[in-house]
Amino acid sequence: MKIMWTYIVAGLTIFGLMLLVGIGLRASQAGWIPIDTGTFYSLLSLHGVGMITAMAIAGLGLLWYLVDREIHLDERVAMLAFAFFAIGVVVVIVSVVFGHYGALWTMLYPLPFVGTTWPSWATGAWLLGVAAVMLGFMLICAQILGAILRSSGGLGSALGLDYVFGRKAFEAAGKHPPSPQMLAATVVSIDGLIGGASGLLVGIAMIAHWLDPHVVIDPLWAKNLTYQFGHTFANLTMYMAVAGIYVALPICTKRAYHSSIPLVVAWWGTLVFVIIAYFHHLYMDFVQWPAVQYIGEISSYLAAVPVVVVTVFGGLMLIHRSGMKWTLGSMFFFAGMVGWIVGGSAAILDATIPFNVDLHNTLWVPAHFHTYLLEGVFLFILGWVFVSLEQRAEAASNALVRWIVGLGIFGGGALFLISFYVAGAAGVPRRYAVEPAPGPFWAGIATVGTLLILVGVLAALVEGIRLARMRAVGAAV
Ligand code: HEM
Repeated sequence: MKIMWTYIVAGLTIFGLMLLVGIGLRASQAGWIPIDTGTFYSLLSLHGVGMITAMAIAGLGLLWYLVDREIHLDERVAMLAFAFFAIGVVVVIVSVVFGHYGALWTMLYPLPFVGTTWPSWATGAWLLGVAAVMLGFMLICAQILGAILRSSGGLGSALGLDYVFGRKAFEAAGKHPPSPQMLAATVVSIDGLIGGASGLLVGIAMIAHWLDPHVVIDPLWAKNLTYQFGHTFANLTMYMAVAGIYVALPICTKRAYHSSIPLVVAWWGTLVFVIIAYFHHLYMDFVQWPAVQYIGEISSYLAAVPVVVVTVFGGLMLIHRSGMKWTLGSMFFFAGMVGWIVGGSAAILDATIPFNVDLHNTLWVPAHFHTYLLEGVFLFILGWVFVSLEQRAEAASNALVRWIVGLGIFGGGALFLISFYVAGAAGVPRRYAVEPAPGPFWAGIATVGTLLILVGVLAALVEGIRLARMRAVGAAV
């Protein structure tokens, strides 16, 4: 529990700070507050990497706890990884605040080295900071994967191969398939190690170039690795948080969420396709081997659809006629599943080549990933926090608090997201400090939405503190 709360509180604190930065960015795109372009790109770099890292830290805390419930994990390893995260976050902040680094988090080589308005040390600090975050991430993934492989006796059993291909004999022997949350942990840790290795590889190459500019890197090689890392890292935050659904929804509905053959096979799809779906970021790179463009499109569908459909369908079956009470915890999980489906569908649309021709690098891109991350991953983390607190105190929030939080986070969130979608569909480019029309108009509408989100988040914070201060009478989740 100590590790889980350390990670979740740290992740949510970074989220809160990055939320304020995000509101500032959107208000500046609306022309409501003056932020000069250099500062805008520095803050956007910080916001992007900070938010993804925040969700990863909180999600890993949740996942680590769920694995630790079934297989004992050494807390010291988790604290060492936490130290890497902390060092990385501080170094990245120094690079942005004091060095004004502004080439964003999935930058394209040689961008951070050419024509920069910031000193060279800021680029180095950024690369080293992100590398430290990757080391922390890979350490946790290695710890989780190692424990799962040891306890299950190998990768085949950890992935439920013997269960799927010999179910009768498997069940006759009294064995049980891996629980859904352990499947999520296995997939996250394997894909996390692959994504982290790509990130470190390109990161080390760039650090070598930073130290000695004679070291030249192939830009297409760098782009492939940067997006393999960036896409995988951001995408996996969802699969970490999804593990919470499998444990918390049964608590809310008083029903069990079992592993089934479709669920196990769906996770196999996610395992393979998450690491190759990133090709959809390179559709515009005409020098790329054409076959991988098709792989990008097909794997984008296959990576997400099975697990989303099986998990959300299973979740809805659990809720249907269960008499589940609407508490903040159950509300967040339910709304998170909606956000996951909406954001996932918008992502798949963008990954479809004929649509990508129009939507590439427009605000449609932040539209879909903010839906998926803000109204999906973040809500699953909040859902987990509130189900844990409600269980512990055997208490729930009153209807007024639920309405304020709901209108703020879901209502304000809808306003914020719709503005991104509409502007994106109108062709407004992403990552522009000063947007062409109708960008500023929609940025204004979005800013109103972000202020409502802030109200909802603050109300949830106050309510969370109230529940956490209540006497513990119930069992831990
Ligand atoms: C209300 C909350 C938020 C606000 C107001 C906000 C605002 C923004 C804005 C204005 C942009 C720039 C869009 C553009 O013109 O390209 C942006 C980009 C981004 N945001 Fe957010 N955001 C919020 C929440 C989140 C969350 C929860 C995450 C992730 C967990 C996130 C991750 C990112 C990323 C990765 C980028 C892209 C950065 C880049 O282009 O390099 N944001 N956000």
